[in-house]
Amino acid sequence: MGPSDAKDHPAAASPPGSGEEDPSLMPADAYGPHAVECRPHAVDRGPHAVDRDVPGAVRRVLEGLLAERTERAAALDPVFAGDLAERVARFASEGGKLMRPRFVWWALRACGGGAAETEAALRIGAALELIQTCALVHDDVMDGSRTRRGRLALHADIAAQYADVMEPVPGTRFGEAAAILAGDLALAWADDIVAATRATPAAERAVRELWSTMRTEMVAGQYLDIQGQATSSRSLARAIRAACLKSALYSVERPLALGAALAGADAARTRALCSAGRCVGIAFQLRDDLGDVFGGPRHVGKPTGGDIRAGKPTYLVAVAQARAEAADDRHALAVLGQSLGRADLPEHRLAEVRDVLVRTGARDIVEAKIERLAAQGLRHLESAPLEAEGRLRLRELLHTTAGAPSPPPPSSDAHGPLDGVPVSLLLGAVEGAAR
Ligand code: IPE
Ligand code: IPE
Ligand code: MG
Ligand code: MG
Ligand code: MG
Repeated sequence: MGPSDAKDHPAAASPPGSGEEDPSLMPADAYGPHAVECRPHAVDRGPHAVDRDVPGAVRRVLEGLLAERTERAAALDPVFAGDLAERVARFASEGGKLMRPRFVWWALRACGGGAAETEAALRIGAALELIQTCALVHDDVMDGSRTRRGRLALHADIAAQYADVMEPVPGTRFGEAAAILAGDLALAWADDIVAATRATPAAERAVRELWSTMRTEMVAGQYLDIQGQATSSRSLARAIRAACLKSALYSVERPLALGAALAGADAARTRALCSAGRCVGIAFQLRDDLGDVFGGPRHVGKPTGGDIRAGKPTYLVAVAQARAEAADDRHALAVLGQSLGRADLPEHRLAEVRDVLVRTGARDIVEAKIERLAAQGLRHLESAPLEAEGRLRLRELLHTTAGAPSPPPPSSDAHGPLDGVPVSLLLGAVEGAAR
């Protein structure tokens, strides 16, 4: 099937929304015969050109895919298109670090993939940015965060658009409801892109399986996060499990596995990459949690203290609680008990919580844990026979993702692979650090 063209579509020629539509002319087949996936997204550059600018290549593919979808949305309804579809497209294509597509690409290259898999890898990378859009848009509603990527979060932004015509309370509610739909739309688009991505039958099967697993893992992790918040959980094991499920898997491990699957990598390479990704992915979330309390390079321009005020069940807080209990530090326990989850916590009380997190040793313990996880992840990477350039780029990427302060360790002393090991077993070593 050849490329579709909006002017061929009756609904596109006279878009609805102007008040006079004949229902029979409504674009019920906007996703029909001219299915957007029939358009070629042939990547105009070979893998070596992508190597030189992975974010640029992903952005180009993503923008092409988004343009088709926003065009179809406009054919459905201009209000829906302007308020939601275009917001989703803007969110997906602007401001993200594109870390997940980079992991896909460099895992592909490290496992020997090239020209035959280039388009599939870029499409999967684009789909991951849409999963990320869904995750972040919903996360900001769940966490009550008003800012994201240096601007208003989607729910706050759409509420602001209607502030003149809505009272504040229904306006807030409307913004959240719209953000639920925006996240759903991003997820639907992501799924559609993956479903229409062509690879070898074995690679398609593996991608489908990984994709399905990954989506559920992320939802499970986000649920543990809000459930732990609502029940004031201070469990170390639960905190690490949630970090792994809500963040490490979809951010690092699964993107690496998707790249490896597209390259048709053998089990040993796949296991090594997955193990590296799990360690570094957990480190990534622990670093994010530290940044939320203390600031840091990734939190420039973002307010700090949101996790404390929301009472998030982070590993950092769980370590502080465990240390304060072990030392019978009543003052620290009182500060934690009276501050965590207090939405109106004033700045000077937040400073007291920071002080407790430092004094109990929790901050240093989490920093040390991040370093150990990063080093362990890098050792896993070195344990597999990978293509030189891909390994080098993955090493840099993993190191940056963990935000570990020290340089990468030498390539010796590889641990056994962790892939397939239940999260709960992996965590014994992590929890030991808290005691
Ligand atoms: C933020 O992810 C959400 C977490 C899983 C902690 P990123 O740091 O990758 O966010 P963007 O996409 O670059 O904004
Ligand atoms: C977000 O975790 C994880 C997902 C979006 C799945 P956080 O809630 O810690 O992420 P930030 O800090 O808001 O970016
Ligand atoms: Mg959040
Ligand atoms: Mg969250
Ligand atoms: Mg966070």
